[in-house]
Amino acid sequence: MAPLKPYFTGQEIPPSKRVTTCQKCIRTGDIERVGKTARHGTFFEMLGNFSFGDYFKEEATQWAWEFATEVLKLPKDRLYVTIYENDDEAFEIWTKKVGVPADRIYRMGKEDNFWEIGQGPCGPCSELYFDRGEDKGCGKPDCKVGCDCDRFIEFWNLVFTQFNKEEDGTYSKLENPNIDTGMGLERIATIMQGVDSIFEVDTIKAILDKVCEVANYKYNSDDKKDVSIRVITDHIRSVTFMVSDGILPSNEGRGYVLRRLLRRAARHGKLLGINNAFYMKFVMLLLKIQRRLILN
Ligand code: GLY
Repeated sequence: MAPLKPYFTGQEIPPSKRVTTCQKCIRTGDIERVGKTARHGTFFEMLGNFSFGDYFKEEATQWAWEFATEVLKLPKDRLYVTIYENDDEAFEIWTKKVGVPADRIYRMGKEDNFWEIGQGPCGPCSELYFDRGEDKGCGKPDCKVGCDCDRFIEFWNLVFTQFNKEEDGTYSKLENPNIDTGMGLERIATIMQGVDSIFEVDTIKAILDKVCEVANYKYNSDDKKDVSIRVITDHIRSVTFMVSDGILPSNEGRGYVLRRLLRRAARHGKLLGINNAFYMKFVMLLLKIQRRLILN
């Protein structure tokens, strides 16, 4: 959460020491996987809770478990946890305070379980995974948490922003450690609704159905066409939210991301035989769905 770095360092005073958020996020790092897996999308809503020098690892960890198991009522025997490889403090909390068995906790490297963007505040992460069952997996004998398939789905990342990365690349301890968590709304909705992928969550499925209608195509009748339908469904969401936030297509930065998404969706539209300008047909539907969600 790069824009919040001044709050993590104490350079700026946050509106409150404890904050919760619902953030619109665009991430295109995995764009080639969108439409091909159950869990990737370029647009998602991230539900966050933040502590700016207030509660820390022990509270954030216990509250995440309480929310997952007592509020959402996810069965404990389908939950797994990852921690950063040398974060023994997190291991102690998960095992001794929360009561998660040690064999359900996986230690991961820097690429997966350490949050940092350039210099400044950063720290180890702990992630919660849900086991969607063998039938959703790759079937390989070594399939486990961290496998690239869709069986074990990561739905919540707890970032313990406790270090500062200095100019020379060394890490110092922040005087007041922070918490920054992010739960993927689409992923947790997939789990809670017991559906196959983020594209079958009720709100997203409504858009997917409309895309199928415009393409005059029956979903699940051709694997390649299904991918195109899902790509368009995803990109419509990204593009609509970007434009409504004032971003316009251009050759650089965010504008280029938008242009790329529009072009990809148009290309997939052509693959489906849609040759007219089809985006506008979905925008009103999407806005109606969001409005209904907000009003409810
Ligand atoms: N805000 C938590 C994350 O970016 O994973």
